[in-house]
Amino acid sequence: MSTIFSGIQPSGTLTIGNYLGAMQQFVKLQEENHCYFCIVDEHAITVPQDRLKLRQNIRSLAALYLAAGIDPNKSTLFIQSEVSAHAELAWIMQSISYIGELERMTQFKDKAVGKEAVSVALLTYPPLMAADILLYNTNLVPVGEDQKQHLELTRNLAQRFNNKYNDIFTIPEISVPKVGARIMSLQEPTKKMSKSDSNEKAFISMLDEPKKIEKKIKSAVTDSEGIVKFDKENKPGISNLLTILASCTGESIEKLEENYAGKGYGEFKQDVAQAVIQVLAPIQDRYDALIEAEELDTILDDGADRAALIANKTLAKAKKATGLGRKR
Ligand code: AQP
Repeated sequence: MSTIFSGIQPSGTLTIGNYLGAMQQFVKLQEENHCYFCIVDEHAITVPQDRLKLRQNIRSLAALYLAAGIDPNKSTLFIQSEVSAHAELAWIMQSISYIGELERMTQFKDKAVGKEAVSVALLTYPPLMAADILLYNTNLVPVGEDQKQHLELTRNLAQRFNNKYNDIFTIPEISVPKVGARIMSLQEPTKKMSKSDSNEKAFISMLDEPKKIEKKIKSAVTDSEGIVKFDKENKPGISNLLTILASCTGESIEKLEENYAGKGYGEFKQDVAQAVIQVLAPIQDRYDALIEAEELDTILDDGADRAALIANKTLAKAKKATGLGRKR
């Protein structure tokens, strides 16, 4: 049994990319592992957020985790800012991080580009992420392709801390799904699908209604060749839709290519839309039942208590190793 940690930012309603790249894996992993799933609200404020919207997104994300199949009896579900050890260990991790290595992170460069003012927190996002993971003696971190670089840095920071102070952190392994690790924007299929994209047509939200899903997939950018074939370089739009269909149905890309030989994009897009609707419909029903329920607060309170128990122990060890505070 491994210990697993993964987080999702409440920076908007989750997309089908977040679901296929991350959440879908979480549900399977909880069966045989000791799992921590976190709503990383402290990460979300590394870019400007509307305070009321953020609160709404936090609750909505908690309901989505549960609606997607996270079982609070098997996994610990909690909000990052409700376990203060995260921010505390992040400070220690910052003290062993170098500005140069943080500036080289692709996510930092992507999110900082063209902005007049960039927060320090956007730069120090990775040491906070390292703290999240290391607090729980995590062995495995399931993430989409985009987070791989941050994970490599987490491993380096853990190793650096262990070498410099004391061997207290477990070095986590990275797990990226074979299919669905990088779902692309429907409008610019060379860019990843993101929940904070300003163009709503670029992503499918997990809470989109069937009609909206159909419309978005119908208007997804493809090419004029008319052949349903996986070719990321030359046919990024069709390749992305094939990936979505494969991840939603469990069919292989090769089998799907065979099925659509000689058929046009119209029929193919219709089937992709139906597959997405079928995956999301039961999740949306459960979400509706949970979003206002008191049960949701009980689960999050309990999750924070359980998480804090482990996190505070690791934090105490890290403080001692670093020489912070007094001997007791
Ligand atoms: N397009 C994607 N395809 C596959 N996996 C994805 N993930 C994100 N986008 C895709 C995975 O979802 C998990 C949660 O991501 P996050 O919310 O913590 O941050 P993110 O990676 O920055 O996701 P977004 O949607 O792009 O958020 P914003 O727009 O706020 O920056 C991670 O495991 C991630 O790999």
